[in-house]
Amino acid sequence: MSLRYLWLLSLTLAVIAQVDYSQYVNPFIGSEGPFPGQGYGGGDIFVGGARPFGVVKVGIDTTAANWSTAVLNGGWSPDGNVTAIINQGYSPRNTSLFPPAYPAQVGHDTASVGYFKTQLQNGVQIELSGSRHAGIIQYNFPAGEKHVLVDVSHYLPGSPNDPNSQFYIGGEIQVHDNGQAWSGYGTYVGGWNNGAPFTVYFYGEFDMAPEAARLFRGPNTDPMRGYQGLANGRPSFAIYDNLTNTATSGPMNDRVGGTFTWDVDEQLSITSRIGISFISVEKAQLYIRSEIPSWRLNDTVDSTVQVWNDDVFSKIQVPLDDTANLTNVRLLYSSLYFIHLMPSDRTGENPLWESDEPSWDDFYTLWDIFRCTVSFYHIFQPVYYESMIRGLIDIWRHQGFLPDGRSGNWNGLVQGGSNADNVLADAYVKGLRGAINWTDGYAAMKTNAEVVPYNTHDPTDYTASTKEGRGALLDWLELGYVSKDRSTRCISRTVEYSLNDFAISQVAAGEMPGDQEKYLRRSAGWQEIWNPNVKSLDFNGFLAPKFSNGSFNESGYDPLYCYGCEWSDYTYEAVPWEYSFVIPHDMQTLIDFMGGPQMFESRLDLMFKPNTSVQALGPNGAGITTLMNIGNEPDFATPYLYNYINKQCKSVQRTKELAYQYFHDGPSGIPGNSDAGAMNTWLLWSILGIYPIVTTDVYLLGSPSFKDLNMTINGNETLRIRATGLEDGFYVQSVKINGADWKKNWFQHGDVLQSGGVIEFDLGSEQVVWEEGDVPPSPGHVEI
Ligand SMILES: *[C@@H]1O[C@H](CO)[C@@H](O)[C@H](O)[C@H]1NC(C)=O
Ligand SMILES: *[C@@H]1O[C@H](CO)[C@@H](O)[C@H](O)[C@H]1NC(C)=O
Ligand SMILES: *[C@@H]1O[C@H](CO)[C@@H](O)[C@H](O)[C@H]1NC(C)=O
Ligand SMILES: *[C@@H]1O[C@H](CO)[C@@H](O)[C@H](O)[C@H]1NC(C)=O
Ligand SMILES: *[C@@H]1O[C@H](CO)[C@@H](O)[C@H](O)[C@H]1NC(C)=O
Ligand SMILES: *[C@@H]1O[C@H](CO)[C@@H](O)[C@H](O)[C@H]1NC(C)=O
Ligand SMILES: *[C@@H]1O[C@H](CO)[C@@H](O)[C@H](O)[C@H]1NC(C)=O
Ligand SMILES: *[C@@H]1O[C@H](CO)[C@@H](O)[C@H](O)[C@H]1NC(C)=O
Ligand SMILES: *[C@@H]1O[C@H](CO)[C@@H](O)[C@H](O)[C@H]1NC(C)=O
Ligand SMILES: *[C@@H]1O[C@H](CO)[C@@H](O)[C@H](O)[C@H]1NC(C)=O
Ligand SMILES: *[C@@H]1O[C@H](CO)[C@@H](O)[C@H](O)[C@H]1NC(C)=O
Ligand SMILES: *[C@@H]1O[C@H](CO)[C@@H](O)[C@H](O)[C@H]1NC(C)=O
Repeated sequence: MSLRYLWLLSLTLAVIAQVDYSQYVNPFIGSEGPFPGQGYGGGDIFVGGARPFGVVKVGIDTTAANWSTAVLNGGWSPDGNVTAIINQGYSPRNTSLFPPAYPAQVGHDTASVGYFKTQLQNGVQIELSGSRHAGIIQYNFPAGEKHVLVDVSHYLPGSPNDPNSQFYIGGEIQVHDNGQAWSGYGTYVGGWNNGAPFTVYFYGEFDMAPEAARLFRGPNTDPMRGYQGLANGRPSFAIYDNLTNTATSGPMNDRVGGTFTWDVDEQLSITSRIGISFISVEKAQLYIRSEIPSWRLNDTVDSTVQVWNDDVFSKIQVPLDDTANLTNVRLLYSSLYFIHLMPSDRTGENPLWESDEPSWDDFYTLWDIFRCTVSFYHIFQPVYYESMIRGLIDIWRHQGFLPDGRSGNWNGLVQGGSNADNVLADAYVKGLRGAINWTDGYAAMKTNAEVVPYNTHDPTDYTASTKEGRGALLDWLELGYVSKDRSTRCISRTVEYSLNDFAISQVAAGEMPGDQEKYLRRSAGWQEIWNPNVKSLDFNGFLAPKFSNGSFNESGYDPLYCYGCEWSDYTYEAVPWEYSFVIPHDMQTLIDFMGGPQMFESRLDLMFKPNTSVQALGPNGAGITTLMNIGNEPDFATPYLYNYINKQCKSVQRTKELAYQYFHDGPSGIPGNSDAGAMNTWLLWSILGIYPIVTTDVYLLGSPSFKDLNMTINGNETLRIRATGLEDGFYVQSVKINGADWKKNWFQHGDVLQSGGVIEFDLGSEQVVWEEGDVPPSPGHVEI
């Protein structure tokens, strides 16, 4: 007895000694945009129970209060009513199914890491949590009728005008053990990436058997844009039939589901555990056994919190004593939370091919996360990151192309370039090897550079593939740029293909040296569309639309406009003014083209002038009036570009102003779509006081937010970032790296991020030019 007691005591002490960082996470950051109570222009985030890079995200789905301002990608929205709990039906008091009156929530929902609670108007309270492949949901019913509806045919709704909606196209449900358990599968198609059908198997169970379990089957009457429904001519209601314990959608792709009823009048809690798998019902069931062995909801909450602390939060330590600025602490740990929700580690869950390689999905998208998120994974999650890259290469091995976006086991969409190239190059130049087969990695990149993907005839853009690869590759190969008359997004794709080819040259340097020069030359393609005659706001020279015959369209072109910034326009989601700064591999030529350091500086200054932006960018720039749009990814590096003219103090000014103005510990706490954590990573780097230049091993110095910060990097090394003078101001006065005076405003990966090291900043209120010598390098410098 006493031995057992001691063991328990030491366990308790160990638990107490560990900090629960999850208390600093605000899971609602980004749930609203600039208009309070609405998701529009906000982070488009998921709210619910999930684990780092986990397969399931357990949460509620809601209706759109107003489709023109709705944001439902993550299910939860601040102003919609509850339609479902993902992979689980909602709890109607009224069992008539179509159309249900969706219950409104009462008051504000509650969420913390691994936990979510909502109170419905109908009196039902729902609490839930998630593990990697399973969820647990507790329904607290008031006195009265008690039903749970399991609707296999539920899916995330899209707006009526959305060309990329998702749909249910078939499924099956069976009940077991007198209705205490149920299993089956549902098949869904579409979504933002226009994906092929994918099937999810499920196994669910209740902690107490219901008195009745009835299955239904009814026609699938949802109008399916781009697909044919089979429901015409039949009555549009579902029927409960009493002959079997199975309902199958059959050849008609009917909706199927079941209701489970408890004949208890007094209030009652019913708990349900559900596992899912892309392989089989058996695996789905096993996940419940291995991941959620307890019926106590909070056992799962506790273990999920533990995983987040161990895998993520505890790897960064900052002072948490009385001197701590808790707002900054909460921004730090919340940002870490949001960058670990996607992609999903689907290892063991790939239904498409057998492989010893890991399997990853939900890259949503690389266009978003290549800019600074993958560089964060690299130092912070080297094990996951190596696995992710192996998974990416395996997609190429078995499906022919690396993805740019991917979900539902399907590549798509490609918004600009083939940005997996940038991701692989970033890992490669920083020395990530492990079990990555770089011979294949390089071959995969080369496919992007040389193989024209077949046209997917996507209504979004009929001209070329939107699925994978480079849709405008024929132009690129023949002309060295993307032309205005043959291709869409001619400017932004030229910008992205240039960096993609630079990325390939970086990996070629090690894997296929004979190719390096060729791709380096191709990476100068952006110079082909630089038109020195274009004038805007007193500046000369901009990226401009160029015809395939080599002449520019000089009539009426204004780089302040993109005429929509969509798939068919000059530029995608940013105007040419902005894209004209996005040449990270050859800033030297860019500064030259812009007329030298002084002209470059004043042009950059103008990016930050309020009320200058004239192009409406919709939700991708809601509430932002400067040309610099921190609400979307293309401009992420722009505020740091003063480092390239040795005026780091202005980079600090710009980045800190953006961080303070646009990032908060509140629902509208990020300036645009989180985009799989891309937006949150921008803030994380600004908190650290460094910023990576993707596809190179260079980091620019900014200004840190904490006086002391330890970060576990590269598995078991430590990066320490210290700052004195924080209380006086954020401008850098001097820097030391590993104890030695550091005069450059940049450093390389090997300096502190491979084996660890210390960066010491001395900060103050004065803007001083403290750096001297070489500006950050332009390794892609080419003169044509
Ligand atoms: C939500 O339900 C409430 C109460 O029934 C209703 O007033 C409101 O219009 C509903 N909102 C939506 C977006 O359906
Ligand atoms: C929906 O939102 C749009 C854009 O804000 C607005 O114009 C419209 O009036 C709203 N519709 C309703 C029914 O509130
Ligand atoms: C259930 O809803 C249907 C349609 O909305 C309605 O006709 C019926 O009266 C309701 N039943 C109960 C018991 O509230
Ligand atoms: C269900 O069973 C009842 C009684 O046995 C029968 O009258 C009814 O027709 C059956 N319903 C269906 C849809 O088969
Ligand atoms: C379960 O955990 C959540 C989140 O920590 C907490 O709010 C809730 O009160 C807990 N419930 C019980 C029954 O302990
Ligand atoms: C960082 O690590 C150093 C060395 O172990 C330690 O002295 C310091 O207190 C740590 N700082 C924080 C904020 O944990
Ligand atoms: C904490 O930092 C925030 C910026 O993130 C700042 O606005 C706030 O004033 C600081 N609070 C204190 C008490 O210093
Ligand atoms: C890389 O994969 C290819 C086949 O895809 C194989 O031939 C080669 O041996 C692998 N290289 C290494 C180092 O494993
Ligand atoms: C190039 O093509 C454009 C668009 O077709 C045309 O307007 C222009 O006159 C052509 N220029 C030359 C030099 O052929
Ligand atoms: C040239 O650009 C102007 C302004 O964007 C446009 O109206 C015109 O159609 C373009 N000309 C050609 C030949 O594409
Ligand atoms: C920007 O425009 C708005 C609305 O016209 C005005 O209220 C604001 O003062 C302007 N801001 C600046 C810095 O000019
Ligand atoms: C650090 O981790 C690496 C890789 O996981 C391992 O090879 C090395 O032995 C570890 N070093 C220490 C000091 O634990």
